[in-house]
Amino acid sequence: MRGCFITLEGGEGVGKSTNLDFVRAHLTAAGKTVRVSREPGGTALGERIRGLLLDRHETGMTADTELLLMFAARAQHLSEVIRPALERGEWVLCDRFTDATYAYQGGGRGLPAERIAILEQWTQDGLRPDLTLLLDAPLDVGHGRAGARGGEADRFEREERAFFERVRARYLQTAREEPARCRVIDAARPLAEVQAQLREILDAFLRNR
Ligand code: TMP
Repeated sequence: MRGCFITLEGGEGVGKSTNLDFVRAHLTAAGKTVRVSREPGGTALGERIRGLLLDRHETGMTADTELLLMFAARAQHLSEVIRPALERGEWVLCDRFTDATYAYQGGGRGLPAERIAILEQWTQDGLRPDLTLLLDAPLDVGHGRAGARGGEADRFEREERAFFERVRARYLQTAREEPARCRVIDAARPLAEVQAQLREILDAFLRNR
């Protein structure tokens, strides 16, 4: 039987990494073989493309180039990792996927959703996540946590506040438009409460598989 494709989404500093580990552990405990991956990246070539996309010295990249690189990495990821794993019956848990493109390149950069949809159709040929977990928090919460991590800001992290407001609004719009696939988790609450909500969503999802 084909495995399920689950994605984790959200803005900066919403606790994606911690919660990714939690989701992986919960699915594994339920007896699933879980393949964890991320975008942009997930393959050797995709990780090199990720390097270009995040490089803060890459100051002249146009929004279209950025969009095409996201989908170039995604095409490789789908053919090398995601589709084969799903066909083997594994569950794929991916840190970001195409909802991030609608949020960042669509909402953030202002590229038309129709243009993204053409690339989505071409690259994915109908393959979409079975479940998307959107970790949502007001900007001040997320950015406070991301800032506390320290280190040099990458090309996205250097964007202004309004960019991230648009990213967040776009994610929430997607969740409103596709309530059956996208679940919004209030990531501003204490971690134990966030994980209780994740557990509930995952258990309901697992019951139907
Ligand atoms: P990460 O640091 O959360 O792994 O994500 C890397 C950055 O890439 C993050 O700032 C969001 C951005 N991104 C896009 O702009 N579009 C996309 O399609 C994806 C997958 C990520």
